[in-house]
Amino acid sequence: MSQHEAEKRAAAERALSLVRSGMVLGIGTGTTTRFFIEGLGRLIREGLTIEAAIPTSVESAGLGRSLGLPIRDDVERPIDLAVDGADEIDPELRLVKGHGGALLREKLVATSAGHFVVIADHTKLVDRVGRTFVPVEVVPFLWRHTARRLAALGAAGTLRGGEETPYRTDNGNLIVDLTFPDGIVDPERTAATLKAIPGVVEHGLFLGLAQAAIVAVEGGVKVMGAEELLGS
Ligand code: 5RP
Repeated sequence: MSQHEAEKRAAAERALSLVRSGMVLGIGTGTTTRFFIEGLGRLIREGLTIEAAIPTSVESAGLGRSLGLPIRDDVERPIDLAVDGADEIDPELRLVKGHGGALLREKLVATSAGHFVVIADHTKLVDRVGRTFVPVEVVPFLWRHTARRLAALGAAGTLRGGEETPYRTDNGNLIVDLTFPDGIVDPERTAATLKAIPGVVEHGLFLGLAQAAIVAVEGGVKVMGAEELLGS
């Protein structure tokens, strides 16, 4: 296992220590969360019982089911704890998510959870969000018009997968990836502007949602935010 993989696993293992019997969990998508889901499978084999696991993608649902997790699409009661990866994390725990294409369900789960904890390796730490690219899920109908409105924000937009073979989300939508030349100076304002554009289903800016981030660095894990939840 590479150092990078080992860091992802270390962050996932730390998050597993937050799981308690009877919980409803939200489970994210991506290579870091995969370690968390596999760890949950191991704990369940060892006797842990959880009430439900709500997956943020078809892929995570399949993995979870194969490992014996009680996968559900919906629950009556709140999600106790959601654990997911991130593409960017700024010092105030503002995130970019959705490079894996699961941003809509990821945001639904994050906003429905009592605690939302991010797990990542150190390469995801940024000084300012928008350093890589911000995915925006749009409806296919008149998507070119939506993309033009997105470009008016001063960002370069690319249809994920290209026009010949566009990427489709689990919800049947398209993704326009936005690149901002210098990152995003005012993420809250950009998020509000994106959300107000007709045709936009969801965007990958996750602001004020994560209570904590567990970031694996060389030699250990660093906890950002919610020390009362995780210890330092
Ligand atoms: C998927 C996501 C992932 O959480 C994000 O892309 C991080 O993935 P990885 O752990 O593979 O780096 O937002 O839509």
